[in-house]
Amino acid sequence: MDTHSIKMDEPIGETRLDRGVQNVIGKGIDRLEGPLKVSGKAPYAYEHQHASKVAYGYLVTSSVGSADIVSIDTDAAMAMPGVLHVVIDKHGVRASADPSDAKPAAIGGKVTHFGQPICLVVAESFEIARDASRLVHVEYKETAGKYDLHAEKGNAFDPGEQTMPSMTEKGDFDTAFGAAEVTFDATYTTPSHSHSAMEPHTSVAVWDGDDLTLYGSYQLVCTNVGQLAAALGINKKHVRIVSPYVGGGFGGKLGISPEAVFAALAAKEIDRPVKLALTRQQVYQVTSRRPDTIQRVRIGTTKEGVITAIGHDTTTGNTPGDDGFEPAGISTVFLYGGDNRQVRHWKADVNILLGASMRAPGEAVGMLATENAMDEMAEKLGLDPIQFRKLNEPAVDPQEGLPWSSRMLVECMDEGAKRFGWEKRALRPGTRREGEWLIGTGMAAASRKNMLQQSSARVTLATDGSALIETDMTDIGTGTYTILRQIAAEMLGLDPDKVAVKLGDSELPQSPGSGGSWGANSAGSSVYAACEGIIEALAKKLDVAPYDLTLKDGTAIAGNRQTSFAQVLAGEDLVVTGQFAPGKQYKATHQASYGAHFCEVAVNAFTGETRVRRLLTVAAAGRILNEKTATSQCYGGQIFGIGSALHEELVIDTRTGLLVNHDLAEYHVPVNADVPQLEVVLLPERDHAASPLAAKGIGELALSGVGAAVTNAIYNACGVRVRDYPMTLDKVI
Ligand code: MOS
Repeated sequence: MDTHSIKMDEPIGETRLDRGVQNVIGKGIDRLEGPLKVSGKAPYAYEHQHASKVAYGYLVTSSVGSADIVSIDTDAAMAMPGVLHVVIDKHGVRASADPSDAKPAAIGGKVTHFGQPICLVVAESFEIARDASRLVHVEYKETAGKYDLHAEKGNAFDPGEQTMPSMTEKGDFDTAFGAAEVTFDATYTTPSHSHSAMEPHTSVAVWDGDDLTLYGSYQLVCTNVGQLAAALGINKKHVRIVSPYVGGGFGGKLGISPEAVFAALAAKEIDRPVKLALTRQQVYQVTSRRPDTIQRVRIGTTKEGVITAIGHDTTTGNTPGDDGFEPAGISTVFLYGGDNRQVRHWKADVNILLGASMRAPGEAVGMLATENAMDEMAEKLGLDPIQFRKLNEPAVDPQEGLPWSSRMLVECMDEGAKRFGWEKRALRPGTRREGEWLIGTGMAAASRKNMLQQSSARVTLATDGSALIETDMTDIGTGTYTILRQIAAEMLGLDPDKVAVKLGDSELPQSPGSGGSWGANSAGSSVYAACEGIIEALAKKLDVAPYDLTLKDGTAIAGNRQTSFAQVLAGEDLVVTGQFAPGKQYKATHQASYGAHFCEVAVNAFTGETRVRRLLTVAAAGRILNEKTATSQCYGGQIFGIGSALHEELVIDTRTGLLVNHDLAEYHVPVNADVPQLEVVLLPERDHAASPLAAKGIGELALSGVGAAVTNAIYNACGVRVRDYPMTLDKVI
């Protein structure tokens, strides 16, 4: 079998994709797995059927936030008819949702947060297991816990307490800020968020001797195999994870979570397949959350509004022993100019559920603070918010001095302003009124790092003129199946319907999975590489240079010869594994996607209720691989952003560490009535330094900054500036 590698040490330049022979790349074609999903034919993890008799598990979780476990009495549960077994947590098994943390933390016998898994009851049915779980008696010796990040912030802001290499600095921030002609210094807070994917975390564990197959719902199967093997103390060659359909992830399925580990232990101990689904409440309390943050933003400028100093300090909480933090300053490092810069993050120990990555980790809440601060500073300077941003548009990456791979922030702001009618905005807050509603508009910039990863994929061109793509890449509802099919169809000159796609099985070639908006570009580049390998092989068979070969409608065209694939292949399938690596090019340029959001709100003068009336996002993220799926990703980001501005908040009882609103009835996300007609504009861009596809990540871009556009509009409507998210009506009134 052949391998074709692309290591991007140089920009790729124009490619076969720019010739657009098939005209299928970029087109908004429907999701190929859509009909399977809506007709119930796409099996999600819990629906996996297994021949031998399946047992069902139900997790028993901690009812206290910080304690030593004195004893666990399972006798009454075991005595219930239909109960098969209780898996006791001997190893301190718990969530390890940070993809960089391949090992579960071993905290045997200690409870570090409310809802921590204690043991698993296994029975002949889910109902029996759940019933019996209530008979398990756990005796705790409670210990003092820390449940309030805000009570911990005093220490956290002491530079001596910094616990992680999360600082970037340039110049002398303190001196420059002290000397600045105009200064702004404010602290913003954001609450914990929950991923709340529609599909709860579920696993079906099946052992065959020493080999485990886990049907689960995961974003990064290759990483997850290593995490699960480490948790079980076995070699990862004995672990296979199958995850072809994932009902939403948002980061909540980046790392192996307790249900997979417990299902695997149970299946081994009773020698039967075991199914384990977390309940909705358990998803909230057992998996992970986006940490809450306290963010101090400082900006110093000249009288004219040129930034001379910019600083962003963030404190986030996480459980003792977990070093993950919310990198809220990630875009502050490069978004605006300024010779003196300081971006720092601290972590405070709290006994709250594991804090981990959630959609646009960093920017999603960091830009709530900085893009709000930019608006406040613009007003202080008497500048239009767009004008202030343009004044501080850096020619190169202001931290490292690297050239941009591409950057269309100014174009996005200009295009958005034109389409939105920005020039009609009220200059003074609170001056536009329609009856009892105060009307306002606001804008914010968007940026999201382009995090390219190495990836591999296998492509088979069969003698019947069909193709098959195979990779362990996942589709978490984002459109992976469809865009990989489009890339191969374009490259190989095939009708998209002739290209089959197999994903989400750890036995297939390794990809980086779905996370960080790197999936489409990275996995897509490995499919591109495999197709290049196939084209080279076809060209060789026809004795022409690869560039002179045109592939169209299932035929190879060279000069005036047109040959069907069946003839060229002469009875033998072509199989090529494509390998892609970001190479030196990735580090030689600064890579990010950019955008701008424009929002109009109406704020009720009597109740403080905010209605979002219009929301426009203009984005530039390199080549768009499928206009429909890319636009849908942006809609998702916009809705997520409305939620972060107005609704989303995990309420933590600071006496006990209990997550109070642990279900979709109480944890508010925007519903239809909260979302206006959304508008998304994708600007044409090709970034040949970013990948062979000339694409960049887009999934998380539209979320970055959008919440600040909403709250800036609220300020413009009614003159109320709340720095404590979400901006619920009690804070506005
Ligand atoms: Mo995303 S938080 O990287 O799944």
